[in-house]
Amino acid sequence: MSRILRIDTSSRTDGSYSRDLTNAFIARWLQRHPNDQVMVRDLVAAPIPHIADVTIKGYYTPADQMDVPLKAATALSDLLIHELRSADVLVLSVPMYNFSIPSALKAWIDQIVRIGHTFSYDGKGFTGMLPGKRAYVMIAYGAGGYLDGGPFGGADFVQPYLKFLLNFLGIADVTFINVEATTADPATISANVTKARALIDAAVAAAPARAAA
Ligand SMILES: Cc1cc2nc3c(=O)[nH]c(=O)nc-3n(C[C@H](O)[C@H](O)[C@H](O)COP(=O)(O)O)c2cc1C
Repeated sequence: MSRILRIDTSSRTDGSYSRDLTNAFIARWLQRHPNDQVMVRDLVAAPIPHIADVTIKGYYTPADQMDVPLKAATALSDLLIHELRSADVLVLSVPMYNFSIPSALKAWIDQIVRIGHTFSYDGKGFTGMLPGKRAYVMIAYGAGGYLDGGPFGGADFVQPYLKFLLNFLGIADVTFINVEATTADPATISANVTKARALIDAAVAAAPARAAA
């Protein structure tokens, strides 16, 4: 049995391609792994606050010196990191907003990327502290041309950023399933969604029965 943590980030709760693809991914996954558990963290239904001055002070204060205000300011970070740690598989649904990720997702990232908890630094280099997990990321782009060497490849700050960030945390096994041109004509959208659905089927079929040791 594996635990899946699903993270939704599109402000659209209806008609969202990234959410729809993620629904399809989870449904396909549960067909193959019916005993797996799915936890859902919807960053739009329950937005994560931006980190504050006191949150950052808490991040850099040794555990034995944390006072009550610092503990309170980092309690949400503790909870979100616990949730992440307890998952074997991370499934993210992400729209491209202004060439990057939604701010709802960035707010979550700022709570979970934390020295001594999800990464360490020994004076020479960084080590991710979340090994043994895998991630699947479903990205929706309104325009086309970002992927496969397309003319806007240099403007895609979603996929390269998330790949780097997840790798930084020690999550090396990351699969991206993308749908481009979601604002194009219906025939193009339909063809692109069909392509993405086939990639979902292939990714789930290729996943090992137990995703993490
Ligand atoms: C605020 C906002 C900014 C957007 N910026 C871009 C962009 O920079 N490039 C792009 O190709 N599409 C952009 N789009 C279009 C979305 O990426 C597209 O509608 C996608 O399908 C959104 O994901 P969703 O369907 O899961 O909601 C933007 C949409 C919104 C609402």
